[in-house]
Amino acid sequence: MSTNSFMAMEGIDKSFHHVPVLQDVFFEVNYGEIHALLGENGAGKSTLMNILGGIHQPDKGSIHINGSEVEMTDPRVSQDYGISFIHQELNVVSDLRVYENMFLGAELRNKWGFVKVEQMCQQTKDVLARLGVDIDPKEYVRNLDTSYKQLIEISKALLRNATLIIMDEPTTALADHEVGRLFELMKNLKKSGVSIIYISHKLKEIQEVCDRYTVLRDGKMVGSGHMQEQKLDTITNLMIGKSVSEERFLQHHTLGPTTLEVSHLTSPGFFTDIDFTVRKGEIAGFTGLAGDGRTELFESLFGFRKKYTGEIKIGGKTVRIDHPKKALKAGLGLVPKDRKENAIIKDLNVIHNMSLSSMGHFEKTGFVREKAEKQRFEFYKDKLNIKVQNPRLTIDKLSGGNQQKVVIAKWLEVDTDIIIFDNPTQGIDVGAKREIYQDIIELAEQGKGVIVLSSEVPELLKVCHTLYVMYQGEIAATFKGEEATEDEMMRYATGTKKEAVTVG
Ligand SMILES: Nc1ncnc2c1ncn2[C@@H]1O[C@H](COP(=O)(O)OP(=O)(O)OP(=O)(O)O)[C@@H](O)[C@H]1O
Ligand SMILES: [Mg+2]
Repeated sequence: MSTNSFMAMEGIDKSFHHVPVLQDVFFEVNYGEIHALLGENGAGKSTLMNILGGIHQPDKGSIHINGSEVEMTDPRVSQDYGISFIHQELNVVSDLRVYENMFLGAELRNKWGFVKVEQMCQQTKDVLARLGVDIDPKEYVRNLDTSYKQLIEISKALLRNATLIIMDEPTTALADHEVGRLFELMKNLKKSGVSIIYISHKLKEIQEVCDRYTVLRDGKMVGSGHMQEQKLDTITNLMIGKSVSEERFLQHHTLGPTTLEVSHLTSPGFFTDIDFTVRKGEIAGFTGLAGDGRTELFESLFGFRKKYTGEIKIGGKTVRIDHPKKALKAGLGLVPKDRKENAIIKDLNVIHNMSLSSMGHFEKTGFVREKAEKQRFEFYKDKLNIKVQNPRLTIDKLSGGNQQKVVIAKWLEVDTDIIIFDNPTQGIDVGAKREIYQDIIELAEQGKGVIVLSSEVPELLKVCHTLYVMYQGEIAATFKGEEATEDEMMRYATGTKKEAVTVG
């Protein structure tokens, strides 16, 4: 252990249902550092942190805080040692007010047992002010953006005087400018001596903000070091055990006739006069910064928002889509972002989550159905490389990235003519991202019209035939896939360049 070590985990083993998930893991975090914990989906990152957080008990190994061995017998013990955990799936209660969330389970009371609302509000305001945020402590959390929910979690940690904050994929639900704000915050926390364990699949971010890294692969610690000394490539290779290159994946295949035609689509305050078409076999990418109207546009197209003017034609026929059921009927599928809120049912098993929207495919006698369903699942499991020990367990037992893959399987099984992916690789590791993009290309090769929404331009450049950049609710530019560059696209996305270019 180094002299500067705040926390060290040594020789940690953990199995679930006799399957080893962690083996002999060493992991050390110093005072005032930001330490990246890296690894592919299912590598064991969240499990290791759950052990540190007192949620799971290790089968073997020890944990040291300030050089003394401790036992994290439950989450409160871990908290008392100054460790705060911000989970991959946020834990904020939407139906409570901001201050109620901050003091949940630890309300301030006077000697007669009455809660001291004003005092809690004041403390909430003070902590939020330290983070440079001005929200009313009495506001209901449901009225706030996701990024604020996360700030509330960080504030909770500060309120408890945390020395070590664990952030499990904190930026997946954040827009770019919010990520910037989080990083500023992290750097300030570091200066004040707080350590942070940062779990993310976004290597650029890691390089920007982390001091050291530790990599897990298949439950084993395979490397650690200082961030500057390592190139990202080396780290990627450590993670997946092989190297990935930056090639464009798209193969040119012949495109079919127009399948989706959108004209003059407008929803005041969100998007204006949107025109585009998608042909069979085409992959169209949409990108932009926060506030570009992209999400709202596709929510309208899929029937989540009723009020729009303009025309949507599918297969040459005008359709009026005011409900997701109508969208499905018209042949439109949407793989949503934010799997916890929109896409999975936690209490259902993995297989049923896959077949949720396509029950018709399996409706026969009970026995046949179970078997057919299981076979379909096995098919997707191989295809998408879903890591699951027992698909009859509830889906919340899977790692975050593997849950996302089940959601994708669900929509592939629904099998619509046009399929929209909203941030399909959210929370997915580099190796699996590539698999998912290859699946998207395969769908296009089968003649489907595919739309991908993403804030990660380099990923879109890899797969799209056509690229649309949105800015403040309008399509600011259109590019052919092979002609687009990230720089040029960003100029339109930020509004520095304006007039629309058309595909020649
Ligand atoms: N409560 C549980 N019961 C059974 N298996 C579990 C449980 N929690 C995790 N696992 C399994 O342990 C393995 C490691 O999962 P973990 O969530 O730690 O991965 P991760 O590195 O955080 O991945 P991701 O990047 O996808 O979030 C996975 O195979 C997962 O299915
Ligand atoms: Mg995880």
